[in-house]
Amino acid sequence: MKYVRMPIEVESPEERGYGNIRYNLAESSVTDRPLSDLKVDLSSIVLAYGDHRGHPPLRDEIAADSGVTPADILVTAGAAGALFIIATTLLQPGDHLVVVRPNYATNLETPRAIGCEITLIDLSFEQDFALDVERIAAAIRPNTRLISLTTPHNPTGVCLDLATLKAVAKLAAKARCHLLVDETYRDMTFATKPPLAATLGPQVISVSSVSKSYGIPGVRVGWIVNTDAKLMERFLAAKEQIGICGSLLDETAAAAAIAQRHAFLPPLQKRLAAGRETVAAWIASEPRMEWVRPEGGCVCFPRIKASVNIDIERFYKELDESAVAVGPGHWFEQDRRFMRIGYGWPTADELKAGLAAISKALDLAST
Ligand SMILES: Cc1ncc(COP(=O)(O)O)c(C=O)c1O
Repeated sequence: MKYVRMPIEVESPEERGYGNIRYNLAESSVTDRPLSDLKVDLSSIVLAYGDHRGHPPLRDEIAADSGVTPADILVTAGAAGALFIIATTLLQPGDHLVVVRPNYATNLETPRAIGCEITLIDLSFEQDFALDVERIAAAIRPNTRLISLTTPHNPTGVCLDLATLKAVAKLAAKARCHLLVDETYRDMTFATKPPLAATLGPQVISVSSVSKSYGIPGVRVGWIVNTDAKLMERFLAAKEQIGICGSLLDETAAAAAIAQRHAFLPPLQKRLAAGRETVAAWIASEPRMEWVRPEGGCVCFPRIKASVNIDIERFYKELDESAVAVGPGHWFEQDRRFMRIGYGWPTADELKAGLAAISKALDLAST
């Protein structure tokens, strides 16, 4: 494995130091919660090794109302851990996969570290970042092992509808390969959310976590969902070799969070709707910027219009000087005129002030 650190991690707010950022528009989750919000008593937990598949009450919570059973769930160290297990289980050097770009960097980087052949399906702003199923069909080869999608999508906020998911699941079944659907933002959709992708067939693997919609990424709990028992056994073997089992403290906290989903998620949806409207109002009043309105998640991926003459390095320097953080395009292998803006993490005032600071940086860096 050839590991290379990804810019999105090297330059992340936590590596930069939260204390050095005034307006943090770089986050792809909602505001982080304190442990006290979860109302869970961790003091009496016996600190033994836990169930290798994941704490049973946690798997029960994840399975509730999802159309799968706890046996179809493997708890991992975050969605990131799930993606790593899936890639290293299914892919070998020289295997081919089809991945959408831009994307959450791990979805691209782990297959690269393994030495896979990758066909990138580049989403374009001009086509509203929409996924063209025909392009995926055309990219499939005899050695294709995996098709990898993300919905709601990071960084664009675009959502795939059920018909599209079904069409790609059918392609994967025909090609006898797997379809990975990274659904880490599944609880954050403005429209009706489609069923869990893993319910579409044993060739489909869903991934999610408590990081984003519950605002507890410090609890390192994610999961893989799949209905093929033999494949799940291979994923479990990978997990056991990496770390045997997860942390019982984390898994108990995650179970408590998900058990309160009916209390936590509706206010979140309101908050995200308000954040999205704040960005929409800014875009409407900022003639130098354009965007594709996000339909899910808590981020969007606007860009500085091509007609605007700008010194882009100066622009980011000005943002740095005003202690504003965004996710610059290069985190996603895109032009730096693009930037990911997270509207779910900052307070309403911080979001407004951060957007105003972006406009000011545009003024100062215009040529
Ligand atoms: C699409 C996507 N998948 C997975 C992850 C990893 O999240 P975590 O490991 O915190 O669950 C992220 C984090 O940004 C993400 O955006």
